[in-house]
Amino acid sequence: DWTPAHFIEQTVEELQQKIGDDRVLLGLSGGVDSSVAAMLLHRAIGDRLFCFFIDNGLLRKGEFEEVERSYEGMGLNVTAIDAKQEFYSALAGESDPEKKRKAIGRVFIEVFEREAKKLTNIKYLAQGTIYPDVIESVSVHGPSVTIKSHHNVGGLPEKMGLKIVEPLRNLFKDEVRRVGGELGMPAHLIGRHPFPGPGLAIRILGDITPEKVRLLQEADAIYIDKMREYGLYDQVWQAGTILLPVQSVGVMGDERTYEQAVALRAVTSTDGMTAEWSHLPYEFLAAVSSSIINNVKGINRVVYDISTKPPATIEWE
Ligand code: XMP
Repeated sequence: DWTPAHFIEQTVEELQQKIGDDRVLLGLSGGVDSSVAAMLLHRAIGDRLFCFFIDNGLLRKGEFEEVERSYEGMGLNVTAIDAKQEFYSALAGESDPEKKRKAIGRVFIEVFEREAKKLTNIKYLAQGTIYPDVIESVSVHGPSVTIKSHHNVGGLPEKMGLKIVEPLRNLFKDEVRRVGGELGMPAHLIGRHPFPGPGLAIRILGDITPEKVRLLQEADAIYIDKMREYGLYDQVWQAGTILLPVQSVGVMGDERTYEQAVALRAVTSTDGMTAEWSHLPYEFLAAVSSSIINNVKGINRVVYDISTKPPATIEWE
């Protein structure tokens, strides 16, 4: 029978045998998967694990600083890298979803490689790839059709001449979370919703500017904070706001407004491969809507996404 304790014991032993005295580099994303992978490796090889945590300027409000502190608390050896401007430059003027994803993937690799060159004797690149990532990149839609390019399962190791380590490759998300718990990971990290590698870039339809990112971060923070306040956070698989590339007319006091709209997305799922829109209480939706519209200048309309996957996807891009 599969238990987290047994999995950890076996995996730590396998990692020690495979890696020997070599050094491993891992890119932390702030998410559960890469964090659990890091903790497993840290248990197996200690300070021979080196971690990068890259700020791509597309994370949630305050997320980078908050997560960095958690990583330090967990004893991981983390280099925090501020690459916001590089990502914004690469994305400037680009509206096509696949091109945005590709640009983010490209800059990620550039930054990662550049920083990796400062380290010596790295032999392995570790990744927090889990089972659904493996299938989703081969694809249920047939291997020749790319629905969305995921840069985190891309060609980084080959390019850097490193061997790959993916200790979570056979696990589903719930198993990863149980392993995290067994390893003593803080509850707020274990319970975090999945968040896509390209971050808010694929939740801002159209081109990306730092100002749009800031606007969406504000709306998103209200949504997620309220979700916790109403005790709904742990009931949904994933939630986020999407900044729509439309303006609509509204009225604020005596003034006509002509501002942007955000969509709220929340889904129930077990692996992200299929998903049902969450039937969130109306009172909650009402509270979120008025808080966003009253507090985030530039947004005058909030809509709720009631699409299932398939045929929709969880993210809008
Ligand atoms: P979709 O939008 O394809 O998303 O229904 C399924 C799950 O995957 C996440 N997602 C990504 N995760 N890199 C990631 O690490 C990506 O490029 C990426 N694109 C989508 C999405 O948030 C959802 O959990």
